[in-house]
Amino acid sequence: MAPEARSWVPYDEGHQWQAHAAYFETRGIQAWTEGDIPHRATNNHAFARQHAVLLLELIQSLQAEGRADPATRIQVLELGGGLGDFAVGLLLALRDELGEAGRALFNRVSYVFTDVSRLSLEQAAQRTALAEFIASGHVLPALMDARAPTVARTLEGEAVALAPWAVVANYLCCVLPTKVFRKQAESWLELHSQRLPPPTDASPSPETEGNEEAAPWRRVVGEHAWLPVNLRETFRGPLHPSLLEQVLAHDAEAELAYPYAFVELLDSLLERIPSGGAFLFSDFEDGSSEGYIAPGSRIPVLYGDSLNHPVCFPLFEPLARIRRDELLVSPGWHGSTRTALWRRGAPLSSALREAFATGFCRPQAGQDRLDFEVAAQKLSEAGEHRRALRFYDRCLALDPHALTLYEQAGATALALGDLETALRYLREGAARDRFQQRDFALRMSEVYCRKGELRQASELLERSLQAHEAPMTCIALGQVYLELGEHARAFQNGTRALELAPGLQEAEQLLSAVQGAWCEAELGLGALANRWWQDKLLALTQTTRKDSP
Ligand SMILES: C[S@@+](CC[C@H](N)C(=O)[O-])C[C@H]1O[C@@H](n2cnc3c(N)ncnc32)[C@H](O)[C@@H]1O
Repeated sequence: MAPEARSWVPYDEGHQWQAHAAYFETRGIQAWTEGDIPHRATNNHAFARQHAVLLLELIQSLQAEGRADPATRIQVLELGGGLGDFAVGLLLALRDELGEAGRALFNRVSYVFTDVSRLSLEQAAQRTALAEFIASGHVLPALMDARAPTVARTLEGEAVALAPWAVVANYLCCVLPTKVFRKQAESWLELHSQRLPPPTDASPSPETEGNEEAAPWRRVVGEHAWLPVNLRETFRGPLHPSLLEQVLAHDAEAELAYPYAFVELLDSLLERIPSGGAFLFSDFEDGSSEGYIAPGSRIPVLYGDSLNHPVCFPLFEPLARIRRDELLVSPGWHGSTRTALWRRGAPLSSALREAFATGFCRPQAGQDRLDFEVAAQKLSEAGEHRRALRFYDRCLALDPHALTLYEQAGATALALGDLETALRYLREGAARDRFQQRDFALRMSEVYCRKGELRQASELLERSLQAHEAPMTCIALGQVYLELGEHARAFQNGTRALELAPGLQEAEQLLSAVQGAWCEAELGLGALANRWWQDKLLALTQTTRKDSP
């Protein structure tokens, strides 16, 4: 069927993008805490620390070049900040890990932490570590839409004056509106999707592209069409056509997901950064390199309802040349996250180049940390607990603030039967968990139960219940009291578990065990019952023998 222009809209105006925007608006930080969106690559401590080192080097270069006064406040602007772990990691590294110079910079930093989603921003700002930095005046949470980057407003609606020396945007380019183009000889085609969402019933819809190549796009957008366009009419101004033509100059035929909203963001925000300031962005790459556009990686990955486009980093080289800025991009490692350092209107000093090369181009600590964790989990699943622990140690050396790593290492040591090592990991995690975000007391109680130290276990379980009253914890505590022979306490915990979760089978089992043990202890009924049953068995056996021929 010939595609009728009126049935189609450019891909970035299609219904998938409305669902995408609504997803970030309504899902809040559960998008991360419930595992919809992978985020460890940009929210681990090693990665944040690399940025802190670079920021320190940038400010020292600015001061050495006479561009910034050593007394001025340094505004850092983060866009699309999401959960906020990156911001916390960067500030902690400055405050605690980079010596006097780091601490001095920490005291001068005003970190404007922004997102387009009010819900995410409010929830991130309530997380304890970020909330502390907000209370101390180091962080200012603000709403900001990267598609209109001249305005930021606090949650109360006050305008925030923007003059950042450094801008950070992690995994933002991949979620901003993107158009998809095909170059064919000298003409350009643009991906269009249907104006309306596809019908929900399974009625067959017209095929506009029946080949295998169209299948991935069909999975994402449903029916679609490639319509001829004139780039100079599609975009206002010459910037986008010129970039697209330059980046695909050597390709007679190619397909490219073009993140025009991020290009516009770069172009307009770089105008607000004082000369010498930097824009740092990290994103997952599409496998392209300068002069080579990787085929077949235009299709977005869906996380929740959000569309995430792999980023074609070579696109930014011509933009930097047009703007006469300096740009460094870290190499990609097999679909990994790449980082770009963009310096506005000033050469990159050798110290900055070195800091970027050390932190982002040589094997990256942030990437290692992720790889080590995956290796540790896989080894642990395969029952190779000892080797898994060696990888957990390597992760922890790079990311000592990641509380979940202490829990995982503790569980692995427990599976190995090395109870002292399990306790060591869990105690260290508990010591670092100042805001009691994880239940280390519960995990340690398990180890003490295995050691047979029930009194210790009961104290830890009581502590866990004070922080968070969960029915299964009541049951665990009830069982410990049962074993200790403290029937009244065991009974109280069983009934409390039932109040919290009516009908919970484990609670009913616990209560009946308590009942039996209590009767036995006070009346010896269990013993009587046993004797009665033995007598009964004997009588039954004798009767059976008599009746048999
Ligand atoms: C993939 S997440 C990345 C979050 C975080 N930077 C990280 O690395 O985990 C994308 C973030 O961009 C935000 N976002 C989406 N559209 C945006 C827009 N137009 N302006 C600013 N932020 C946006 C989302 O709310 C979300 O927090």
